[in-house]
Amino acid sequence: MNTPATPRLFLAPMEGVTDWAMRDLLTSVGGIDQCVTEFLRITDQLMPPSVFYKNCPELKTNSKTRAGTPVFIQLLGGQARPLAENAARAAELGALGIDLNFGCPAPTVNRHDGGATLLKSTDRLFEIVQTVRAAVPKNIPVTAKIRLGFDDPHACLANAQAIEAAGAQWLTVHCRTKTDGYKPPAYWEWISKIKAVTKIQIVTNGEIWTTADFLKCYATAQTNDYMIGRGALRDPYLFNRIKDTFSDRSLNETTFLEVKTLIPSFYDSSAVYLNEQFAVARTKGWMKQLCLSIPEFKDIFEEVKVLTKPHEFKSRLEYLLN
Ligand SMILES: Cc1cc2nc3c(=O)[nH]c(=O)nc-3n(C[C@H](O)[C@H](O)[C@H](O)COP(=O)(O)O)c2cc1C
Repeated sequence: MNTPATPRLFLAPMEGVTDWAMRDLLTSVGGIDQCVTEFLRITDQLMPPSVFYKNCPELKTNSKTRAGTPVFIQLLGGQARPLAENAARAAELGALGIDLNFGCPAPTVNRHDGGATLLKSTDRLFEIVQTVRAAVPKNIPVTAKIRLGFDDPHACLANAQAIEAAGAQWLTVHCRTKTDGYKPPAYWEWISKIKAVTKIQIVTNGEIWTTADFLKCYATAQTNDYMIGRGALRDPYLFNRIKDTFSDRSLNETTFLEVKTLIPSFYDSSAVYLNEQFAVARTKGWMKQLCLSIPEFKDIFEEVKVLTKPHEFKSRLEYLLN
């Protein structure tokens, strides 16, 4: 395989999930080289700085999480000029990079000319990336994230070429079409087809839940960079475990005992990020995911999921986790 020894691992942008508190937690657990914010939807307005700070509080800490992991700001929209103006503003506020979302399958987003619907128009992808590229200082990377296509995976070839020609620094490919939704499998085999027609750095994404999935993906895609989304929620140590397969160390299966210590601090940072009611909702959301991979969480989740008052939720949760 023509790849360096240790891959670079990215935490996927996930709207409503990988906000500042989750990025902070997961990057403190370790193994993550790069984060991207949840998408910021751009129509025809220049967003005020407050919107950027809410999307990416890390702007106030050199655009890095407290663990030192860089965070790029993701913009989503269909109009090149407003995207470029907002990208320029993000750069002025200290963004380390701008990622453009061309993969979102949400019907509301697609109806309003954003996300995966743009995969049908290679020319528009080119125009958007080029215009944004021209609007931000040269030292700030502009990157893009696509699916294989809207309904036809072959679209990824021309789209990747256009995005490369427009000056993007790297391209994340979620290896499914919009029509595939989130249905397994992810078609990692398309990555070698994209590599055959471009030189752009590719970040391979989709369906990496375990180290074994990663190794299969690595053998198929043979890229240096990989992005993981939902798998990170079910196993916060997944990035470390993947990295450890490239070293002499080896981590055991992630255990209940390890993960349970992370939950109270996630609650606290979610409360700092927004408020305690939000922290209750986010902590429940994450615990629901953890129940799918670590069965010991099930009884605890069943008991706390009905609690809505923050102090009740928090004290019961802490009692059950101790
Ligand atoms: C709840 C949720 C929210 C998402 N939000 C975004 C987003 O804001 N921007 C984006 O580019 N992709 C978004 N995605 C897609 C993920 O970044 C990723 O491409 C997808 O989940 C596949 O990776 P995975 O199989 O590792 O989860 C989202 C996915 C989920 C499940």
